[in-house]
Amino acid sequence: MRSHSCGDLRTNSIETKVLLCGWVDRRRDHGGVIFIDLRDRSGTIQITVDPDLGPEAFAIAEHLRCETVLQVEGMVRARPAASLNERLATGAVEVLAQQLTVLNAPSRPLPFPVSVHEEENTREELRLRYRYLDLRRERMRRNLTLRHKTIQTARNFLETEGFIEVETPVLTRSTPEGARDYLVPSRVCGGEWFALPQSPQLFKQLLMVGGLERYYQVARCFRDEDLRADRQPEFTQLDLEMSFLGQEEILELNERLIAAIWKAVQGVELQLPLPRLTWHEAMERYGCDRPDTRYGMELTNVSDLVAGMGFKVFSGAVAAGGSVKCIAVPGGNDALSNVRIKPGGDVFSEAQKAGAGGLAFIRVREGGEIDTIGAIKDNLSETAKAELLARTGATPGSLLLFGAGDTATVNKALDRVRQYLAKELGLVPPGLWNFLWVVDFPMFERNNDENRLEALHHPFCSPNPADIDDLASARAQAYDLVLNGLELGGGSLRIHKAELQRQVLHTIGLAPEEAETQFGFLLEALELGAPPHGGIAFGVDRMVMLLAGEESIRDTIAFPKTQQARCLLTGAPGAASNAQLAELNVASTWVDSV
Ligand code: AMO
Repeated sequence: MRSHSCGDLRTNSIETKVLLCGWVDRRRDHGGVIFIDLRDRSGTIQITVDPDLGPEAFAIAEHLRCETVLQVEGMVRARPAASLNERLATGAVEVLAQQLTVLNAPSRPLPFPVSVHEEENTREELRLRYRYLDLRRERMRRNLTLRHKTIQTARNFLETEGFIEVETPVLTRSTPEGARDYLVPSRVCGGEWFALPQSPQLFKQLLMVGGLERYYQVARCFRDEDLRADRQPEFTQLDLEMSFLGQEEILELNERLIAAIWKAVQGVELQLPLPRLTWHEAMERYGCDRPDTRYGMELTNVSDLVAGMGFKVFSGAVAAGGSVKCIAVPGGNDALSNVRIKPGGDVFSEAQKAGAGGLAFIRVREGGEIDTIGAIKDNLSETAKAELLARTGATPGSLLLFGAGDTATVNKALDRVRQYLAKELGLVPPGLWNFLWVVDFPMFERNNDENRLEALHHPFCSPNPADIDDLASARAQAYDLVLNGLELGGGSLRIHKAELQRQVLHTIGLAPEEAETQFGFLLEALELGAPPHGGIAFGVDRMVMLLAGEESIRDTIAFPKTQQARCLLTGAPGAASNAQLAELNVASTWVDSV
């Protein structure tokens, strides 16, 4: 049906007869001559329809509507000098139409303009409802192409390194990654349920027990959790598992994988090895385990400086076993009025959303004079002031913001404020790829509501051998890859001995019988010759989002779901008939509140 793609035509095709197919991007009537921008996946080309050269074609062109599917037969020619279009890859040529054939014309009005010339400002709900129209646009075409290239590069790299791709089941048992499961009732086994995998974690470990040595999969994962711009209920992992490699070797291999992707997709040469930070240091310096290192404003611990001072908010926090930490906001003295930091202000409210009661502050005036408020002013000695400035690196014009209280809340609040202010004050330099490995995560964190320990990653991470005597406070041999403040991937060395796996399951509160019921198949496998192994999974949607410079992973997925986990195109999820439910031995207890 066609000889060329629209976007491929250049001056070397001049005088060539071509047959093109595509969509009418737009049509302009220039008194006598009609110009059509014809678009296919490769790009857009200008078609010129002259009534003197093709009267029948002209009659069709006069009535063409946008998004008509059109076949064009014509001759490529150079554009006249006055109408060269440098913004278009095909802008030096045009096709003089000899024959137009309408392959399909829209029979109803378009819900929104598709043309690249009018692209923006379409509501996301409308874009998702008519995703196939949205996919015709340059932005989504670019993002999906970039996604393809990312996965293709990963596949090539991994296959060269001896990995083989294996598919793991989607109808399975619960695979604990900390989210709620999507459940599927079994018709054949009445009263029983499959869970959709939150990740292929246990199967990839079993593949190692099965002697596969190096596995990868572009794996769909399902998690029923609160959705955000970087979370979808079903998402894709680039999932890896390797036998007989230590942590250093795994990190090294994965750095080369990431570098290959960035080279192929961005043309960027990453400097290896990538920087590393221990989890402890990340929490201390940034208040979070996925720090954005593109800008400063690190958290400074000043607990020792303020412990003895008369300002109760500070000394009280330290006395109660908590911390006082602060960040120095460069230029913050001018940029942030008291109103913004006090109750009701935007900066205050960021801290409050993270659970903090408020933010104390100190202004460093031009000339270095420091200006404090109320209680801090009266209670800070001159030496303490000088030490504060030295420690925080505050310069004239800085604003020091303090958090005081239990350490977790202080970290959370200052992390949030730091990220907010970096964006708000334009402190994030563009064009940086700040990768960071965060290593040495703790094995467990306390779940205060249930008064028990929980696995920080998942309960299959191997503890650091140096910490084995006190499992509860042990570090895991676990690592996360962070990029510009976003968690791109995470993994660990795994427990490969049944006895240790039982101990860890016991530590998170599973009774031996429960451990056998839920994970008996894994424990059994670990008893039958499991090799030392470890792995990692990257979030493909997030990786593509960052590579494409998008703000939401929805723009990297062909058919994503909304924040309410709904597909606006198909209307899923939808009701099931009573007959279907009966067959599955399921009854709905849902009561419509309307
Ligand atoms: P983890 O739970 O850290 O590890 O997931 C790995 C990566 O997957 C991405 N990710 C998501 N992306 C979009 N939407 C979501 N709801 C979502 N949840 C996670 C993140 C994350 O870093 N089995 C382990 C890996 C391992 O130990 O090998 C796991 O799933 O980018």
